[in-house]
Amino acid sequence: PSFIPEALKQALPAVSQYPSVAGTPVLRTAAADYLGRRFRVRIDPATQVLPTAGSKEAIFHLALAVVEPASGRDTVVYGTPGYPVYQSGALFAGGREHPVQLQRERGYRLELERLPAEVLARTAIAWLNYPHNPTGACVDRVYLAAQADVARANGILLASDECYQDLWFDGAEPPPSLLEVTTTGVLAFHSCSKRSGMTGYRSGFVAGDAALIGSFRGWRAHMGVGSPTFIEHAAAMAWSDDAHAAARRAVFAQKFRVLVDGLAAKGIEVLPSRAGLYIWARVPGGAAADAYAQRCLERGIVISPGGFFGAGSDDWFRLALVPSVEECRTALAAWPV
Ligand SMILES: Cc1ncc(COP(=O)(O)O)c(C=O)c1O
Repeated sequence: PSFIPEALKQALPAVSQYPSVAGTPVLRTAAADYLGRRFRVRIDPATQVLPTAGSKEAIFHLALAVVEPASGRDTVVYGTPGYPVYQSGALFAGGREHPVQLQRERGYRLELERLPAEVLARTAIAWLNYPHNPTGACVDRVYLAAQADVARANGILLASDECYQDLWFDGAEPPPSLLEVTTTGVLAFHSCSKRSGMTGYRSGFVAGDAALIGSFRGWRAHMGVGSPTFIEHAAAMAWSDDAHAAARRAVFAQKFRVLVDGLAAKGIEVLPSRAGLYIWARVPGGAAADAYAQRCLERGIVISPGGFFGAGSDDWFRLALVPSVEECRTALAAWPV
């Protein structure tokens, strides 16, 4: 929406200065107010919010800040299929990766309570991501509370990647935040990229446990990841407005419906989903996902083979709800089965 670039232009300073790692109070307050409106949680903007340059860098850097390879706490737990940065952060930090195969019949939930005690005892960070990339799976507060209990009992930092929280489909229950069940020992990662279509601005924030936010802030001072104040001003305007997020949500919901119905009519199995930016579907005819992606590409359709998101998903593919509704319809007409 035009008010966001306008806000950025208005905030461009005549004299450029280094931004602060803590971010502007205006952005921290806008983020805390958003969390209050959307999730009914009370977050202190001074101590419990930390602006980031998009959520990817913060997700990556968390492992570098927290994992201590020489200590007994060297492991990062995450679900597979999943967003690949949880793994790359762990490996660059010299930590141990612990991917957990997410099962369709268990709702693609990462269940910490099912991990061996030996793994929990050495885990520094456990990552949750619901609505889930790539499957669109969602969870409820009961699940989140159970994960928070296991994390607390085992001294694990529970990190929740919540960049798709505002993209739910028609009539669905808005996805909850981990912050609704606790702010102790947890961090939630939010982004302007999906909610406001601001991928190029690189802006997000982390919110949660004040002690963890304080130490992450101190650590990030070394990384040069402070966001320019004019970006933060535009981001503050975006977090303060819910109407544009609702309008984007309606467009994604429409694309989701068009594609799900169109794929179902062609006999392609689609995972039912309530939220997110993706469709997770089974490759038709038992073909390998890579070969099927190539066939789609020959017809001008870009899909991501399930294997891109980790081992064990080779018979699935992911569609991103990025093209226009018209382009989705055109793609369906050419869709290979
Ligand atoms: C699950 C997930 N988390 C985080 C990100 C990073 O988004 P950004 O860095 O734009 O905030 C993405 C981007 O696709 C994602 O899919």
